Amino acid sequence: MTEQRYEKIGGKMRILYSEDYYNMSRQAANIVSAQIIAKPNSVLGLPTGTSPMGMYKQLIEWYKKGDLSFAKVKTLNLDEYKGFNKNHPNSYFRFMYDNLFKHVNIDLNNVHIPNGLNESIINECEKYNKIIELLGGIDLQILGIGHNGHIGFNEPGESLEKGTHCIKLSQSTKEANKRFFNNIDEMPNYAYTVGIKAILQAKKILMVVNGGDKKHILLDAFFGPITPAIPASILQLHANLVICGDKSSLEMIIDKFPLSVER
Ligand code: F6R
Repeated sequence: MTEQRYEKIGGKMRILYSEDYYNMSRQAANIVSAQIIAKPNSVLGLPTGTSPMGMYKQLIEWYKKGDLSFAKVKTLNLDEYKGFNKNHPNSYFRFMYDNLFKHVNIDLNNVHIPNGLNESIINECEKYNKIIELLGGIDLQILGIGHNGHIGFNEPGESLEKGTHCIKLSQSTKEANKRFFNNIDEMPNYAYTVGIKAILQAKKILMVVNGGDKKHILLDAFFGPITPAIPASILQLHANLVICGDKSSLEMIIDKFPLSVER
């Protein structure tokens, strides 16, 4: 395991290097599990997607071995497609249920995901912001990163939206996520997402990332300028950010900024 720490502009970032997806997932699961053991009623911010699937699998394994309990854990998912019922096969609720919730002892009353069916966008965003506030914010926010630098569905733009909002999905995001659908026309055009404020206010942030297709965006987001054109770049300001990456996603970073701290 190799680790590198960077400090800049008041932000602190640790990059943890793993040989492959399996080890990256175990490394990330270790951090989540340490959080739950240290604070059993932690509020976890959760992503869907391919990047965290191995991490969820590892957490389930540790739960089944009796090493971990989700009994008091509270979760806030980052996003949900607008117009999808929670039992829709492609809803993010369904993803979370199939990939984590149904396998562990989490209380479904403690699980929060935007309601894609709410007729009123304003009402849904206000409701979700209120839930975040009532839970006292997020202890550990887990994130993936889109090829265009999105976090949650905070897509590149002129400015970053602070609160929960409903966003038109970019073509790049639709292309990337169409693999979960029979065809791209089945994909919704809009999604709810937690805004940048809740993400940045999380006490800790853990990003999981794998694959050579993410190597350019990782370099740009964390070693380039902070800009709404690359929403993840704002994370450079966070005081407790850990990036768990595999060899191929970290390739360009390692090339330019050699990882040096052996553990
Ligand atoms: C999903 C989410 C997105 C994904 C990102 C990467 O809830 O918030 O920001 O994390 O699109 O997706 P994968 O991991 O599938 O490459």
